[in-house]
Amino acid sequence: MSVPNITLNDGHEIPQLGFGVFQIPPDETAEAVKVALDAGYRHIDTAEMYGNEQGVADGIAAAGLDRADVYITSKLNNTFHEPDAARKAMAGTLEKLGSDYVDLFLIHWPLPTLYGGDYVSTWNTMIEFQKAGYARSIGVSNFQVAHLERLAAETDVVPAVNQIELHPYFHNAAVAAYGKEHGIDTEPWSPIAQGRVLGDPVLTEIAAAHGKSTAQVVLRWHIQLGYIVFPKSTTPARIRENFDIFDFELTPADMAAIGALDKGEAGRDGPNPDTFAYLPT
Ligand SMILES: NC(=O)c1ccc[n+]([C@@H]2O[C@H](COP(=O)([O-])OP(=O)(O)OC[C@H]3O[C@@H](n4cnc5c(N)ncnc54)[C@H](OP(=O)(O)O)[C@@H]3O)[C@@H](O)[C@H]2O)c1
Repeated sequence: MSVPNITLNDGHEIPQLGFGVFQIPPDETAEAVKVALDAGYRHIDTAEMYGNEQGVADGIAAAGLDRADVYITSKLNNTFHEPDAARKAMAGTLEKLGSDYVDLFLIHWPLPTLYGGDYVSTWNTMIEFQKAGYARSIGVSNFQVAHLERLAAETDVVPAVNQIELHPYFHNAAVAAYGKEHGIDTEPWSPIAQGRVLGDPVLTEIAAAHGKSTAQVVLRWHIQLGYIVFPKSTTPARIRENFDIFDFELTPADMAAIGALDKGEAGRDGPNPDTFAYLPT
């Protein structure tokens, strides 16, 4: 079973299932990426903040693949929002990836309380990167509706994706709905809530009925909602398990039952983008 592609609003295609490398130590990243590529993944989600972009490139080489065989996303770190700093960061990302382009480049966080709240200038620099060919597609991450509305009002380019926290306990409904209405694909991060949803009795019952694992059910739920997901694991058996989600289908009743697990804002595990102001040193 092959992974479907999603066509983004700029015409580029992205594999709907990928592999995330957040919190994988740099010296373990190449091996994890190689295991994922050997299992069939062709989409890797990294970030300058994760410190492991070089490991992604090394993993692709170790798997015997060419750069062009793999869809790579990276992200602009919080420290580099000002245009000149962003240009240096873009060059650094390309150098670490050993490539002259990324498939998708995202503003990692909007940081509305920093840089005078000027994520619009940062977005204009991203538009410059796309025009220069450094990033085939550009998008954002952790943008709230108000932030997206401001980009729409003040710039000419709609982000291709918005990567946001989203899992069965936190559907991030208003942001996902805005994306759907405006042609911005949603990329849920922490799609299995870093494992916290896996003991939920509603999910374990659905998993048993399909003869699949709970993680597979949750990932399948994302896929059936049309989202782009990239679970993280450093456990080879789980890396393969998370890829094996295209041989079954959740029923409308399953989808409704998972839909009822949303706790709204109380289900959010990560930082709130309206106040998050972390600047890595
Ligand atoms: N843009 C952002 O701000 C942002 C924030 C967070 C994440 N992300 C992206 O989203 C990706 C995924 O999110 P995430 O890493 O936070 O969390 P996640 O994918 O929801 O969960 C990863 C955790 O679940 C465990 N796990 C994975 N597959 C499993 C399975 N089949 N059964 C049981 N446990 C399993 C992993 O353990 P082991 O590794 O020990 O197997 C790991 O502890 C990241 O890697 C990153 O690319 C982006």
